[in-house]
Amino acid sequence: MSLLIKNGRVITATDDYIADILIEGEVITAIGKNLTQQAGQVIDASGMLVMPGGIDPHVHLDMPFMGTFSSDTHESGTRAALHGGTTTVIDFVLQKQGHSLKEALNEWNGRARGTAVGDYSFHMAVTDFNEHTKGEIREMVEEEGITSFKTFMAYKGALMIDDRQMTALMQEVKRQGGLVTVHATNGDMIDYLVAQNKAEGKLSPLYHYLSQPEVTEAEASGRFTDIANYTGCPGYIVHLTCEGALNAVRNATKRNQKVFVETCIQYLLLDASYYDKGFESAKWVMSPPLREKKDQETLWAGINQGLVNVVATDHCPFMWKQKEMGKDDFSKIPNGHPAIENRMELLYSEGVHKKKITLNKYVEIACTNPAKIFGMFPRKGTIAIGSDADIIIFDPAQKHSLSASTHHMNVDYSAYEGWEINGKVKTVLLRGKVAVDNGECMVPKGYGQFIKRKKTSAII
Ligand code: URP
Ligand code: ZN
Ligand code: ZN
Repeated sequence: MSLLIKNGRVITATDDYIADILIEGEVITAIGKNLTQQAGQVIDASGMLVMPGGIDPHVHLDMPFMGTFSSDTHESGTRAALHGGTTTVIDFVLQKQGHSLKEALNEWNGRARGTAVGDYSFHMAVTDFNEHTKGEIREMVEEEGITSFKTFMAYKGALMIDDRQMTALMQEVKRQGGLVTVHATNGDMIDYLVAQNKAEGKLSPLYHYLSQPEVTEAEASGRFTDIANYTGCPGYIVHLTCEGALNAVRNATKRNQKVFVETCIQYLLLDASYYDKGFESAKWVMSPPLREKKDQETLWAGINQGLVNVVATDHCPFMWKQKEMGKDDFSKIPNGHPAIENRMELLYSEGVHKKKITLNKYVEIACTNPAKIFGMFPRKGTIAIGSDADIIIFDPAQKHSLSASTHHMNVDYSAYEGWEINGKVKTVLLRGKVAVDNGECMVPKGYGQFIKRKKTSAII
């Protein structure tokens, strides 16, 4: 099977040139001007941007959480991701406290294997670090190709670990060559503020936001960074939202330690005014909450300064009916919002089109850095000879709008209903196969492969 993409404008994190790309089987085998090789299929990409498939390293598919399950399965979520130009996602396996990592992995494998449409990997969320768990870290890294370990400094009682466990986990992960990622907010403070607001009868979604002030994130981000520095373990802060938290990391850069920062598309584009809509605000109840305009400025600047390395989604969708579980109590609204399908187009439209970031930066933060940090580069995240042919053909001139009535995510509202977008994903290739073409998915359930990842220490 061979395919030739002709005359596209090829964009990587560092390059920008017009060329043809030859794909044989699942990989790119030649790149050049006016390639003369014959191919079974030819795509004319004149006038189009040809970029690596997006990598979203923060999604929650079919995840048990807050008394329900996120509403996209591995099938519907990865299919929606492909429609939006994201060819690989990293989902979270959650260890149940009192149980092993392996048990949790078996459960997630049962849901994802044979159902995912797009490629995927797993982070392992460690919620109970003990002597047994410690012994499993090596197994995850060496045998399963799971090299990143997620921790929660919040969600007290369910997912949160304390600093003692964090320190011990980091020591072990460092030993095994992996990376520790973190939901960095101060769980004790948040727990207290939630209880205080509820005791005062403050029960609307607005109080979700008011229970997680900036300081809760700034403090935890600084604490995590310090523990990472002490243990020498590479760290990655997920869904960083605000100036205070980014400043805590900025201080650490003086120590030349490896702490990577992810923000998510919603924190760049939406602000806390979305909590002034009565119960409709539940659509944007997520943790951490949306912040202020000044924080959006800080995040865009952080991207351009190289301090914010990745833009993900934290895709964690719930149907409106599920959100209504918290109609009378904001603390029962399942946290999360849908964006897996929208990230690449929103970031292009609001970032590149509006000249906040360059095209190369776009590819860097949406494709290349996630591949590098999480041990998939250069197989994924770039356009190069030998890399998987995960490619998007993108029309920068096409305008369209986002809506729940046209999206492919399994959720009955859009957090971006009616948003006007400049630029559209036209064709998506996944490992050499046309996976999406003009809005139609061309690959079946089960086409998605689990991607075993290399050690962080082997790449960065
Ligand atoms: O609100 C969120 N972020 N939901 C998903 C779980 C998490 O904290 O990432
Ligand atoms: Zn989180
Ligand atoms: Zn998350």
